[in-house]
Amino acid sequence: MKILVICGTGTVGSQVVANLLKRNADVRVMTSSAEKVQTLPAGTEGVVGNLKDKASLVNVFKGIERAFLLTPVSQTETEEGLNAVQAAKSGGVKRIVYMSVHRLEDIPDAPHFAGKIPIEKAIKESGIPYTIIRPNSFYQNDYWLKDPIMQYGIYPQPIGNVGVHRVDVRDIAEGAVNALLNDGHAGKTYSLVGPDLITGESGAKIFGKYLGKEVVYAGDDLDKWAEQAKMMLPEWMVNDFRVMFKHFQTKGFMATPEHRAETEWILGRKPRSFETFVSEATTAWKQEAKAGVTATATS
Ligand SMILES: NC(=O)c1ccc[n+]([C@@H]2O[C@H](COP(=O)([O-])OP(=O)(O)OC[C@H]3O[C@@H](n4cnc5c(N)ncnc54)[C@H](OP(=O)(O)O)[C@@H]3O)[C@@H](O)[C@H]2O)c1
Repeated sequence: MKILVICGTGTVGSQVVANLLKRNADVRVMTSSAEKVQTLPAGTEGVVGNLKDKASLVNVFKGIERAFLLTPVSQTETEEGLNAVQAAKSGGVKRIVYMSVHRLEDIPDAPHFAGKIPIEKAIKESGIPYTIIRPNSFYQNDYWLKDPIMQYGIYPQPIGNVGVHRVDVRDIAEGAVNALLNDGHAGKTYSLVGPDLITGESGAKIFGKYLGKEVVYAGDDLDKWAEQAKMMLPEWMVNDFRVMFKHFQTKGFMATPEHRAETEWILGRKPRSFETFVSEATTAWKQEAKAGVTATATS
C-alpha cells in the first residue's frame, strides 16, 4: 500500500514521513523541487509535483492508495488544495488526511484560515474517505525566535495574554499517521491541541526557566512586530498573520474540552506539553552555542 505525503519536506510533512517510515509504511514524498528529491530520507520514493500545476499531479497520484495533504500558506492556497483533491479523486485514492487549522471558521478575515474552508468542503464532497485534522498554533514556530530569546532575552511571539492551546508538530504528525494507517477515522474531523494554555507572558517565563535567565515578552504591539516580520516574510503574509495575532490577543485561541478529547483520541495518549518542547529546544540551543564557542576557541 503506497502512501503519498504532499509537502513532505516541510515542518509537518517531514515528521509525517519520519513517522510513517518508523511504522514500515511504503512512502512516496512529493516535493516541488527536483534538487530536494535527492535529499529525501532513505527508504522513500521521491516525486516532483507542484500544487499550482494540475498536470504535474497526475503522475504524483499514480498507484497511490492513501494520501496526506497539507497546503502551504500561499496567495493561491485554495486553488492549490482543490487541485490536489481533484487529482486524488482522479487517481482513485482510497483515504485522504487533510491538515487544516484549528477553529477554522473563527478567523474569516485571515486568508490562510478562510482559504481552507473550500478545501475542507471539496474533501468532504469528493467521495474519498477522509479525515481532517485541525491543529492549533505549532510550538515549533518558536524555533524562529532562537536569536531574540538566546541573545536578548526577548520573546517576540505576539500571541497576547488571553491564551492559546498550542501543540507540538510531532503530535500533529502522529495523529495524521494514525488516521492514515488505522481504521475508524473516516468522516471525522479532529482538533489537535496542546494540554496547556500558553500566553506571551507564560511562554517567556518558561523559556526563562529552562535558560536560567530572564526572558521578557515583547508585548502586543503588532505594528512593531510587522516591521520586523516584513524583513523575512512577504507583505501579504505579514498582513495575514497580523489578523490572526490580533484575534489571539483579543479572544485567545483556545480548545474546548471536546477538542482536547479529540486530540487524546486520535493520539491514544496525552499530547506533549509546551514545557517539554522548550526543555528540548533550549538544551539543543545551549549545546549549539557551546559547540560554537569551542569551535571559536580552538580555531
Ligand atoms: N504554523 C502554525 O502554527 C500552523 C498551525 C496550524 C495550521 N498551520 C498550517 O500548516 C500549513 C503549513 O504547514 P508546514 O508549516 O508544515 O509547511 P512548511 O514547513 O511551510 O512546508 C510546506 C512545504 O510545501 C512545499 N511547497 C511549497 N510550495 C509548493 C507547491 N507549489 N507545490 C508543492 N509543494 C510546495 C515546500 O516543499 P518543497 O520545497 O520541497 O516543495 C515546503 O517544504 C499551512 O496550511 C498552515 O496554515 C500552521
